[in-house]
Amino acid sequence: MQAKNDVQLKKKVGITDTTLRDAHQSLLATRMKTEDMLPIVEKMDAVGFHSVEVWGGATFDTCLRFLSEDPWERLRLLKKGFKKTPLQMLLRGQNLVGYRHYPDDVVEAFVKKAVDNGISIIRIFDALNDPRNMEKAFEAAKKAGAHVQGTVCYTISPVHDLEHYAKVAKILKDMGADSLCLKDMAGILSPKACYDIVKLWKEEVGLPVQIHSHYTSGMASMAYLKGIEAGADVVDCAISSMSLSSSQPPDETIVAALQGTPWDTGLDLELLTEIAEYFREVRKKYAEFDKASPVPDPNVLRYQIPGGMISNFISQLKEQGQLDKLREVLDEVPRVRKDLGYPPLVTPSSQIVGSQAALNVLTGERYKIVTNEVKDYFRGLYGRPPAPVDPEVQRKVIGDEKPVEKRPADYIEPGLEKARAELGHLYTQEEDVLSYALFPQQARKFLEEKLARQTGVDFDLAEKARQDHPAGYYPA
Ligand code: CO
Repeated sequence: MQAKNDVQLKKKVGITDTTLRDAHQSLLATRMKTEDMLPIVEKMDAVGFHSVEVWGGATFDTCLRFLSEDPWERLRLLKKGFKKTPLQMLLRGQNLVGYRHYPDDVVEAFVKKAVDNGISIIRIFDALNDPRNMEKAFEAAKKAGAHVQGTVCYTISPVHDLEHYAKVAKILKDMGADSLCLKDMAGILSPKACYDIVKLWKEEVGLPVQIHSHYTSGMASMAYLKGIEAGADVVDCAISSMSLSSSQPPDETIVAALQGTPWDTGLDLELLTEIAEYFREVRKKYAEFDKASPVPDPNVLRYQIPGGMISNFISQLKEQGQLDKLREVLDEVPRVRKDLGYPPLVTPSSQIVGSQAALNVLTGERYKIVTNEVKDYFRGLYGRPPAPVDPEVQRKVIGDEKPVEKRPADYIEPGLEKARAELGHLYTQEEDVLSYALFPQQARKFLEEKLARQTGVDFDLAEKARQDHPAGYYPA
């Protein structure tokens, strides 16, 4: 009898390891190079993770912008190494891996190529939890045969109640989500909130649930345990030497904590320790980017805003010799958020709210100077805010202009062929066109440098030659 109950209760919890994406994005400004990933891939593949998150988020941009690496090539190399563990990526809905909405044809082609090159699970979110901004990516991912993880961003506000989380999750299920992710990018998810939302989803939506949190406030491991008690299927962790602070809870801690419980992960601590050892050494190479705090950040709990935003404010204000205004700026953030209808603070809404809050304080008058992003936000071009925006502020920002009604991407012209034409003979793979469609300047620079390396051609001379002889000067 006892044995039978045990069998019924046993539900292995899966772990998604984020070391190769979110962990180094959160701790090392996303700077980890592919060459530092590949030597450990075989060992990571042997662990038996539910999946490994290795692509998307800021990694794409950073590869092109700072590392002179082809993000697509990184993906292919990782796919070669991870023979059995599914590769997972983070996709910002219509923003893909960028900071603005892209046209539908670019979204379709990008998602297809991501899957072609090795991605199996795509976690799709929108900063405003507006399902319309996720529609196209969902459709493309389904079509490409990927597992679609519908994501709801977690935030704290008067309108983000259980009803909101249930409502959005149900819409995502209707759109075809294979699983749900509760995404706590700021690390403010309390154990109780996590329990309540996961339980609600398990009861009312009925899809597998994955929890994503950050250790910033020190609550994430507790939130995971409560979420697991409520029925969560998978949790996001990073290898210990790349965990804690603004990264995820440690793989090893969660594995050990669940040993001997009905949720035992079954993962090998011995093997994880070897991997941790490897990353402990790798991390040292990136010391100049490593700003991780060894202690939890109480300001994150107090202001309920992501730690990354707070450190951005500190460096911006320092630059302008206005660090004494920090407290005022942090106090202004919730007010701007309220004016904007309580957007969750995640890329790109965190940047939009953050810069406006700083402007409001530094100019001495609220909305005296308004960023273009805030104008577009009030025009409805980022999507539908969770709550109505403040009408007074709206009038101050866009006057009598009427906000758009339709899905924001409906107002964007197709972009793929335009990108192809602009890139001319510079691309050697379809993926280059996509890199260019997303980040024109960075991609062009990267592709030019690559070509220069391959051909030994001085690019400035080559560019001149191309203008003189437009017909196919470059090797295609
Ligand atoms: Co994250």
